[in-house]
Amino acid sequence: SYKCAIFDLDGVLVDTAKYHYLAWKELAGKLGFEFTIEHNEMLKGVSRMTSLDILLEVGNMKDAFSEEEKVKMATEKNNQYVEYISNIDESEILEGALSLLQELKQKGIKIALGSASKNAQIILKNVGLESYFDVIVDGNSVSKAKPDPEVFTLGAKTLGVPYEECVVFEDSQAGLEAAKIVGMLAVGVGQKKDLTNADVVYSTLKDFNIEKYF
Ligand code: G6P
Ligand code: MG
Repeated sequence: SYKCAIFDLDGVLVDTAKYHYLAWKELAGKLGFEFTIEHNEMLKGVSRMTSLDILLEVGNMKDAFSEEEKVKMATEKNNQYVEYISNIDESEILEGALSLLQELKQKGIKIALGSASKNAQIILKNVGLESYFDVIVDGNSVSKAKPDPEVFTLGAKTLGVPYEECVVFEDSQAGLEAAKIVGMLAVGVGQKKDLTNADVVYSTLKDFNIEKYF
């Protein structure tokens, strides 16, 4: 059985993926093009600057801006996003997340966060989930972004758990791919049609059967 659970944050534990989407959509609007919820799937789990590149490609503006202008746009998006998340509370915790964390803790399973976000700490604090984690790996602690597995392997190494004994919970294709590369069990949270890289998919964490894996 598995010894460690690694959680992505946005869209798995907390309903913040919608705020990322809103902030990106606003930027696209300013640039004069439509950015749909389907486009947004490509941004999930992906770092801030890579997300911007993908968004600009959607708008056919791939080479229209200098590096400096791009940093400015990403900062603007982040300011908007930070405003959205500054007032969130435990009501934004996704269905089944809290009870799963509690049950894992009771069973003595190690729990890690593996998020690409530089805003992970403030989100965990605002929704009151900080204390469940034995280790927090986020966008500030790693240099390589998903689908590079660094954000998961660093957590496993810190906890001293072999990769094949880790379960990763993810709502993004990039994150599921990262988990599989190093032999972790890739559990998709969301819709099957979006998460073809997963070993198994549940629509919410509430449907995850803890006894089956831990
Ligand atoms: C997560 C989200 C992405 C986001 C990335 C970076 O992986 O799924 O949508 O772009 O984190 O987040 P940040 O808060 O640092 O911009
Ligand atoms: Mg996510």
